[in-house]
Amino acid sequence: MNIVLFGPPGAGKGTQSALLVERKSMGHISTGDLLREAVKNQTPLGMKAKAIMDAGNLVSDDVMIGMVDEALQRLKGKSFILDGFPRTVPQAEALEKLLASQGLKLGKALFLEVPRASLLRRLTGRRVCQACGAVYHIDTRPTRKEGVCDVCGGAVVQRKDDHEDVIGTRLEAYDKSTSPLKKYFEGRGSFSEIDGVGSTEEVYARLASQLG
Ligand code: AP5
Repeated sequence: MNIVLFGPPGAGKGTQSALLVERKSMGHISTGDLLREAVKNQTPLGMKAKAIMDAGNLVSDDVMIGMVDEALQRLKGKSFILDGFPRTVPQAEALEKLLASQGLKLGKALFLEVPRASLLRRLTGRRVCQACGAVYHIDTRPTRKEGVCDVCGGAVVQRKDDHEDVIGTRLEAYDKSTSPLKKYFEGRGSFSEIDGVGSTEEVYARLASQLG
């Protein structure tokens, strides 16, 4: 089944996607990861996107739609999780057209619900490996050795947009542009809301039960 996994910043989309990829052999399209890769490789798109992302704002719909179109084609029909896309109603409308043009169907749009105070704790405490992208948390999932990735030994750092002054802008962008997607998907009959509070395994069990 092809799914959209959406929710506010820090809700656990990346964490849950990693489990779904490992356990259900699904393809994973994370627009945040694709953008960070472009920034790392200093592509023209990456150079433009960096300032927007560091400030906590959204990259333009046109750029994101083109990026997802290419990523879907690369999956060659494998079932997928879309993580971080769509993030606006125009992106959701474009997705419908993209899927139809590639002969694909969306099974479900799953919304991860997490209260704001928990989001703040998750985001300010998150640390990521610069080399392999593994995700940690200073309280709930610390690295064995401080600042060093357990998986690959790479440097573990705080994302620029996880600093408190930027998180406010990200949450505002979410409230204004992304939260209307709940109504959008509800109207299409493919929407389920998942409680994103609890252990990673508890949340995974709730998500997996939606996949049939
Ligand atoms: P993106 O990378 O997509 O950021 P986001 O949506 O803000 O999501 P996050 O990566 O912050 O959080 P997450 O939900 O994946 O949480 P995670 O699993 O890491 O996008 C970054 C930027 O790119 C955007 O701001 C924008 O500029 C741009 N962009 C991307 N897509 C775009 C689009 N479509 N249109 C326009 N612009 C776009 O978990 C967070 C922390 O919580 C971790 O430390 C984790 O260990 C911990 N945690 C996870 N689960 C649990 C749990 N159950 N209990 C306790 N802690 C937990």
